[in-house]
Amino acid sequence: MPHRQRYLFVCTNRREEGHPKGSCAQKGSEEIVKSLKAALLARGAAKTVRACSASCLDMCETGVSIVVEPDHVVYGDVKLEDIDAIADAAAKGEIVARLVVARGEK
Ligand code: FES
Repeated sequence: MPHRQRYLFVCTNRREEGHPKGSCAQKGSEEIVKSLKAALLARGAAKTVRACSASCLDMCETGVSIVVEPDHVVYGDVKLEDIDAIADAAAKGEIVARLVVARGEK
């Protein structure tokens, strides 16, 4: 498989119930990564954009967290209802500004 133009790393870290930091899996990220993969496939974008499960991205407070590369931004508080917007943007090489909670230097 070729290297993709864009990667969406979805935190699927799960902590034990009651942990003060919580975790993205407890907020539904396992379903989100599955839905995101399906949404990219449905758009014919699976060969250019890859959605991957990731361990903790250290953005737990604003999870569900997704790191978008090479844009070098973090989406936070992602819900299932955001999947279409994320897949549409990724397929076009764009980001969803309303979901960005952190930006890094490229
Ligand atoms: S548990 Fe998801 S960013 Fe830490």
